Amino acid sequence: MKKGVRSQSLQALKERRKQIDLIDQKLLFLLNRRLSIALEIGKIKKERREKIYNPKREDEILKRLNLKNRGPLKEEDLKKIFKKIMRVCRKSQIT
Ligand code: PHB
Repeated sequence: MKKGVRSQSLQALKERRKQIDLIDQKLLFLLNRRLSIALEIGKIKKERREKIYNPKREDEILKRLNLKNRGPLKEEDLKKIFKKIMRVCRKSQIT
């Protein structure tokens, strides 16, 4: 039985949302993994009496990611996202 255009597009919408939900789940897992490692780094820095804030390292990360980026994510948006991620990691290392 042939499906209508509306029903086909509704199916496509549902499939894309399923894909997004799976990606979000993976992102959440990876963000938690990243934070766990950042917390370990925080402990090592404390033992070594090093400063938590490392602007040079943050700049290097942003630069490397920007070189790797193939889009469609814009450079400014990539920067915003990762600055926020690093800020959360840095704040968590302190507290
Ligand atoms: C990080 O990779 O999460 C990171 C790096 C440098 C900082 C803070 C966080 O100063």
